[in-house]
Amino acid sequence: MKVLNLKRILFGLLLIISCHGVLYAQLSKSDQVRLDELLGKMTLEEKIGQLNQYTGDYEATGPLRQGGDKVDDIKNGRVGSMLNIKGAENTRILQEFAMQSRLKIPLLFGLDVVHGYYTTFPIPLGEAASWDLEAIERSARIAATEASASGVHWTFAPMVDIARDPRWGRVMEGAGEDTWLGAQIAGARVRGFQGKGLGSMDAVMACAKHFAAYGAAVGGRDYNSVDMSERMLRETYLPPFKACVDAGAATFMNSFNDLNGIPATGNVFLQREVLKGEWNFQGFIVSDWGSMGEMIAHGYCKDEKEAAMKSILAGSDMDMESRVYTRELEKLVKEGKVPMSLIDEAVRRVLTKKFEMGLFDDPFRFCNPEREKAALHNTANRAAARDIARKSIVMLKNENQTLPIDLKSKDSKIRTIALIGPLAQSENDMLGFWSISWPDGDIVSLEEGIRSRIPGDVKLLVAKGCEINDKSEAGFDEAIAIAKQADIVILSIGEALDMSGEAKSKGHIRLPGVQEELAQAIHGTGKPVVVIMNAGRPLVFNWVADNMPAILYTWWLGSEAGNAMADVVFGDYNPSGKLPMTFPRDEGQIPLYYNYFNTGRPSFGDHDLLYKSAYIDMPNSPKFPFGYGLSYTTFVYSNLVLSSKTMTAKDKIHVTLNVQNTGKTAGEEVVQLYLRDRFGSVVRPVKELKDFRKPMLLPGETKRIEFDIDAEKLSFYNNDLQWVAEPGEFDLMIGSSSSDIRLQESFELK
Ligand code: BGC
Repeated sequence: MKVLNLKRILFGLLLIISCHGVLYAQLSKSDQVRLDELLGKMTLEEKIGQLNQYTGDYEATGPLRQGGDKVDDIKNGRVGSMLNIKGAENTRILQEFAMQSRLKIPLLFGLDVVHGYYTTFPIPLGEAASWDLEAIERSARIAATEASASGVHWTFAPMVDIARDPRWGRVMEGAGEDTWLGAQIAGARVRGFQGKGLGSMDAVMACAKHFAAYGAAVGGRDYNSVDMSERMLRETYLPPFKACVDAGAATFMNSFNDLNGIPATGNVFLQREVLKGEWNFQGFIVSDWGSMGEMIAHGYCKDEKEAAMKSILAGSDMDMESRVYTRELEKLVKEGKVPMSLIDEAVRRVLTKKFEMGLFDDPFRFCNPEREKAALHNTANRAAARDIARKSIVMLKNENQTLPIDLKSKDSKIRTIALIGPLAQSENDMLGFWSISWPDGDIVSLEEGIRSRIPGDVKLLVAKGCEINDKSEAGFDEAIAIAKQADIVILSIGEALDMSGEAKSKGHIRLPGVQEELAQAIHGTGKPVVVIMNAGRPLVFNWVADNMPAILYTWWLGSEAGNAMADVVFGDYNPSGKLPMTFPRDEGQIPLYYNYFNTGRPSFGDHDLLYKSAYIDMPNSPKFPFGYGLSYTTFVYSNLVLSSKTMTAKDKIHVTLNVQNTGKTAGEEVVQLYLRDRFGSVVRPVKELKDFRKPMLLPGETKRIEFDIDAEKLSFYNNDLQWVAEPGEFDLMIGSSSSDIRLQESFELK
């Protein structure tokens, strides 16, 4: 990987000069002329203003920098964008200030609309468990419809960081550990946010973040360093970002981490060479909150002036809350340390998006309170939230057919249900981190979801048992007492909404407080127990996993959480979610992921330990593998046929198989296709997800599933960083999870 040097910067400059035509690509001829005229009129101070982003005074995620009256700055053309402002009225007020500036350049309003705006959808990791790209796109579409009606132009999403370390709290924000799945989901989210394209009334600009490799922070500690080979970077961490560019993402955000010694914000290689160069990205790059200034603490810049210089040279276009551009860029240009062409490039990128959003034609086009009112309390949006919420639920265990709880059949023996646990009545925790707080945001708790479902002659007893994170066992007796009266217990445990998310790294990812002890006490009553776990990350919960008969992993499911959980608990929806991340048995196994390299001394099974790549005190295998999830029905895979056992790089192998629903309930199955390149010029993973289908099957029904294998699916980065498919033998595996391979074949690339 390259370092910042004169050659690199010159390369960047050449690129920019040759890029002007490209930056215009989305604009009409007349807007191009308007943009040029505008740029010609702007003073250096006004240009720098366009590269400056301030926060509103709420929902700040970092230390607020004081100083400078923001309103005054807006009126004087010193602000290009605001974040953390929402609402048709609020955005109008600020836009009016911008219209008092000399050149009347509209503000862009950005906000972290991560999993819904008013209607809250499951956290992104939860949605990823649905493996339902259409539902994921719909969720982003609805979020954009609501946010745009509230004056928001731009969401800081999708977060597409691949994450293999559940200690890192931000795993909740992404699509999990897999690059291929992550790239599909990244594209779906960008398409959802941007809808018919910038300029349509219900589109918000997407922002692919955090560029790049933020999810690989050493030790899972947020903001920590990353050191990895360029091959690993390109193969595992960059493809979801590339998918965002391909889907037309308007903006990118860089990341807090340093990558191989260079902070991402000042990283010429990442931003100028890869993103704006190789990928020809036409939008603009915003820094992460304060990340320009933080290059001083990194030890990469001696002061704010150097931070501003290195940021702009590296291609960071907009400064989120470091304020180093407003303070330092003018001096740097005047001293000849930053060429004017770089400022113009960045300003042009920002203004292009403002033109595309239609803001120069009407800066208030997203500030309509009537539209906002109609958009926010929309029942169809709630229905979509419920749909994807139940699709996100993963059933981890179901012994003795404990689930679904049968309330409908004549011989149902369920007369009393005990609902126990600190999350049973919680509303806010259902929303999860990165939800937008609403004073009247009606959220369906688990208790409400259950109550609305059970018939009048079934009794529901409720007890908290304990708090989410405190040591008191004072509530255990009451919980045990109601469990004893019940025919079945639903135990609702897990994390509070602020336990996974930004700056929520954990060394221990166990159940907080005395929740495991509560589970043990309830188990002691001998009653059947259904465990419902809300969390923002994979947790380690071995006692519960080994002893409780039924477990649903329900993440944080959003506004319709309680209804979605009740749908699954009572069998109105057959669970179909599959884990998008490996669940470890122990923190000591982390990072643990399914697509590892075999090593020279692979350990087979969990008992083959002697001088093998294994631990002597714990197994290698996960508690629950990537791609795993149960259903109320069973699926049988058969009849795997390959159209040919050989292919060349120019043709394809057509793969077919049958999947039959052999149970009594209709259900969906995620049929996963994995490939392994047996020998390569560099070592290859033991398997890699390369495709999937999610058919719905009625009881007894068989469907034919089809895939195509082409050279793209076989390709990887070789040692010279060329993307190649190398001739040789490949294994094709069709599985119900990454470790439950049902059918297998091999073929050869000639
Ligand atoms: C986060 C970003 C977020 C920004 C603005 C930062 O702390 O890392 O993901 O978009 O704050 O809220």
